[in-house]
Amino acid sequence: MIEANDLTKRFGGLTAVDSVSFSVGAGEVFGFLGPNGAGKTTTVRMLSCLISKTSGDAKIGGYDIGDESNHLKIRKLIGLVPDNVGLYDELSAYENLDFYGKLYDCAPAKRKENIERFLTMLGLWEKRDAAAGTFSKGMKQKLAIARALVHEPELLFMDEPTANLDPESAKTVRDFILELKKEKKTIFLNTHNLDEAQRICDRIGILNTKLVATGTPQELERALSGGGGARQTVVLLQEPPTDAMLAALGPLSSSVKQEGNRLTIDLKDPERENSLVVDALVKAGGHIQSVTIASASLEDVYLKLVREGGGG
Ligand SMILES: Nc1ncnc2c1ncn2[C@@H]1O[C@H](COP(=O)(O)OP(=O)(O)OP(=O)(O)O)[C@@H](O)[C@H]1O
Ligand SMILES: [Mg+2]
Repeated sequence: MIEANDLTKRFGGLTAVDSVSFSVGAGEVFGFLGPNGAGKTTTVRMLSCLISKTSGDAKIGGYDIGDESNHLKIRKLIGLVPDNVGLYDELSAYENLDFYGKLYDCAPAKRKENIERFLTMLGLWEKRDAAAGTFSKGMKQKLAIARALVHEPELLFMDEPTANLDPESAKTVRDFILELKKEKKTIFLNTHNLDEAQRICDRIGILNTKLVATGTPQELERALSGGGGARQTVVLLQEPPTDAMLAALGPLSSSVKQEGNRLTIDLKDPERENSLVVDALVKAGGHIQSVTIASASLEDVYLKLVREGGGG
């Protein structure tokens, strides 16, 4: 659905997006993470044909963004929830959506149906006749999402759709994205929220002017947890371990770190070896409170890559 090759944008002397290559398949939810100024919005604006690229190329649904004669076709394929919502304040919620639907040649009956469907899904149907200017930030954000969908695009670009939303509204929007995912829409999501990216994205790209990593959330975490190297298991005992308990761990005991009643053990394959550890400790008289596998979180991966990944 999206195919980018060495896509680059320079503003005068500043390179905002540097030679970025990635692809997003139909029906995939792709998350774009990166610090402020990383080039996320710039990438989305190039892909939505709002600004021109400097070099490289990209295709949306097979159409080259560099060819202006494709822009209308691309615009019909995509919906954009921009980082600034940009609604017509004096028009009602319904009128805002109707206006966009018309702009995209969505037939009247279909328009009516879609407006009702999306306003209902986002909890705004009751407010359809109120002027958008009277809406709260969260309501405006939801209206902007509905607007991006009226013409039934296959691909939805969302630029930080949950920024500035209260936890409950953010959840409504996240659940809504998952609903769209079930309907097999392709979604490109810019976000700063690592937890959100982890929960809803199939794959994630980490951008810092250059694309520093892509993969599923699990792949990214595993890459940092040592790529096949040791992982750590943390065992909490009710009492600090006795020498007999430590001895019972046999060859594993060389990697054990002990702090009070807490043992941290390096294991190659914790899913298999944890039960050996537990058996050994219990047989030696240990009482176990909990056993957890410590692995790098997406946050650890993100911070590491963004700190060492070559920016600007
Ligand atoms: N129209 C413009 N003219 C000049 N520089 C620009 C323009 N738009 C963006 N930039 C610069 O390009 C870089 C990338 O900006 P961009 O808005 O794409 O970042 P972002 O990843 O979306 O950041 P944020 O997380 O803050 O939204 C920044 O250094 C910004 O100042
Ligand atoms: Mg941005």
